[in-house]
Amino acid sequence: MLDRMSEYRRERVGERLRQVRAQQIAEAVRHILEFNRTPAELKRELDRFVMGQEQGKKTIATAIAFHYRRLAHALKSSMVQDRGDIDAALRKTRTPKANILLIGPTGCGKTYSGERASQLVGVPFVVEDLTKFSEVGYVGQNTSDILVDLLISADSNPHIAQMGMVYLDELDKLASEPVAYKDVSGRGVQKGLLRLVEGVENTIELGPERIPLSTKHVLFIAGGVYGNLEDIVCRRMARNKLKGEWKDFLLTEDLVEFGMERQLMGRFPVRVLYDQLSTGDLKDIMTRSEDSPLRAYKNDLKAWDIDLVVTEEALDEVALRAELEGTGARGLTGILHRILLEDMFHLPGSYVGEFRVDLAYVRERLP
Ligand SMILES: Nc1ncnc2c1ncn2[C@@H]1O[C@H](COP(=O)(O)OP(=O)(O)O)[C@@H](O)[C@H]1O
Ligand SMILES: [Mg+2]
Repeated sequence: MLDRMSEYRRERVGERLRQVRAQQIAEAVRHILEFNRTPAELKRELDRFVMGQEQGKKTIATAIAFHYRRLAHALKSSMVQDRGDIDAALRKTRTPKANILLIGPTGCGKTYSGERASQLVGVPFVVEDLTKFSEVGYVGQNTSDILVDLLISADSNPHIAQMGMVYLDELDKLASEPVAYKDVSGRGVQKGLLRLVEGVENTIELGPERIPLSTKHVLFIAGGVYGNLEDIVCRRMARNKLKGEWKDFLLTEDLVEFGMERQLMGRFPVRVLYDQLSTGDLKDIMTRSEDSPLRAYKNDLKAWDIDLVVTEEALDEVALRAELEGTGARGLTGILHRILLEDMFHLPGSYVGEFRVDLAYVRERLP
């Protein structure tokens, strides 16, 4: 009797959970279809998290706002013809895609901007490290891997997965060198990427289920450091007697000289050059970004009734140390941790109130 009761209740709960999930999915799809942020609005929201990179944020915000507005618009009109069938609309809709190539030093916010933007739009975001991609069976295996990642990050909803963003990390590592001593496998992977980026149909098998998925509407963002790109551009500028900031003169042919496939570069028409973060930017990341690592430490200590106060000079010193590490904003968390570790161990339980970190203190902790 008891067992039957609980079984009945379990079914009711299961049914209810399924309803809630279906509602959530419908809500998430509607959210994407109703996308209506302007590039300026998207940029303003990015500004709350990503410091510096003014030109970069502008370009990304514009590309992303246009991509999702265009997609939403096209899907909505085909859904009218197909009586609200999103499956058919996703299959039928064709939209020109403008994928984004992000170039810039490590830790300057390339991945972070993409991730933040995807959250603002409300679509899944996955990061794929290209260095682990093999040439063998490329389009098949790697595409399914990416689609499975998207599906997971879309809470198993195929419609949402197909409207997500994929960040292809370390694209520059696929460059082939013009000289013979390096293997040319990068070229093969680059060719495979071409199809993936344009849109490949794939079927994912999950247990007994076969789910057709495509990358047709996925927005691809590729990121890379592109170490000596500046030299390549500057050499060409010198040859052609061009003067100015090299970043304003970047052409596809420079990327080809770097070792990229021309056709692949053609699929990434939106190019964004990120700057090395200045000490000012690094300080802003600590004091102004809503994701500030300093704010995280402050909150953590607050939970023990300790008010962490860091003086301006101390902040300048931390920013300077992070700049010297050369890992961009990545260095900040580690440096703050080195400064605070001892105190985080000793203070809880033995001290409450204001805890001040000044320049002398930073220097003492970071010899
Ligand atoms: N411009 C920035 N503004 C705010 N935080 C940043 C910025 N750049 C990097 N960060 C912080 O550093 C981390 C690493 O940055 P990331 O975007 O992954 O670097 P990369 O440019 O190498 O992709 C981010 O998760 C973020 O916390
Ligand atoms: Mg990155």
